[in-house]
Amino acid sequence: MLIRKPSDIPSSEITSKSDYMDRRKFMTAAAAVGVAALGADRLKNIASPREAVHATEKLATVPSKYSTTGVTPTSFEDITTYNNFYEFGTGKTDPSHNAWRLKTSPWSVKVEGEVKSKKEFDIDALMKMHPLEERVYRHRCVEAWSMVIPWIGYSFSEFIKQCEPLSSARYVQFLSLDDPKEEPWIYSVNLDWPYSEGLRMDEAMNPLTLFTFGLYGQTLPNQDGAPVRIVLPWKYGFKSAKSLVKIRFVKKQPRTTWNESAPNEYGFYSNVNPNVDHPRWSQKYERVIGAPFWKARQPTLMFNGYGDQVASMYAGMDLRKNF
Ligand code: MTE
Repeated sequence: MLIRKPSDIPSSEITSKSDYMDRRKFMTAAAAVGVAALGADRLKNIASPREAVHATEKLATVPSKYSTTGVTPTSFEDITTYNNFYEFGTGKTDPSHNAWRLKTSPWSVKVEGEVKSKKEFDIDALMKMHPLEERVYRHRCVEAWSMVIPWIGYSFSEFIKQCEPLSSARYVQFLSLDDPKEEPWIYSVNLDWPYSEGLRMDEAMNPLTLFTFGLYGQTLPNQDGAPVRIVLPWKYGFKSAKSLVKIRFVKKQPRTTWNESAPNEYGFYSNVNPNVDHPRWSQKYERVIGAPFWKARQPTLMFNGYGDQVASMYAGMDLRKNF
């Protein structure tokens, strides 16, 4: 984000979805060999087959009243090969090459802080906690590109109920996995790991905030944040932390990775706002990934078009100051 400019992927590099699936067995074997090889030579030995997009399982979903209508989903190929996931490298295609190293089973999410009692949820239990909905959301990155993604999950508020937070809990902090064995790139990226994001409690409770387990009818590919991430369609993409291992209910505004790294560029709120430019580029327009050239540049919408559902949470706040 701070480090590299977006670059397009030549269509020749894009693998079809059926090819991904066929390569699943091969990739599992390759992953085992790759991880074994990852020793002293850890940063030199990160090359892996191009087809390292993890295969996934199908998920049953119910339709959602929160799904965005009148938008065209971005292709599965673009969604899974144009990613920001710095634990697997800073280039847009790096996560699709490297995220096969991520071991998503077994997986659990710890809950701690201002809660009645600490808890730990197994990923299977989390996925069964509430019916999974398919929600098509706009996805706007702070780097001024966008996609439309058919996510799968349920409102994070359903999960919060199970956590039994105390009235002293005013913010929620999300922490991603930081495992140098599976994510050796964290040694080469100058951020304070683990990746951390945070929300005010009312933002976390907003029904649009999606506890996300899949996309395009299947579990999340690793590079998109498997096995569980958060998605907030009215905020810049970096608020949507991937591969969550810990959720903390806290009294004070928590540290967030990008705000900590460059506070003048990335605020705590980071609501999509075409009227507040990033110090190094305009936020008025966005580049639509995968769109034909005559639709590839479109104006950015306030709150990414979700103002009806979220604007009231910021009433009275100066959104230039609280960017
Ligand atoms: N979560 C973690 N753990 N690490 C990251 O580098 N990048 C963020 C966000 N979540 C990031 C992360 C950024 S900058 C964006 S734009 C979105 O993930 C990208 O999500 P996508 O790759 O599924 O489109």
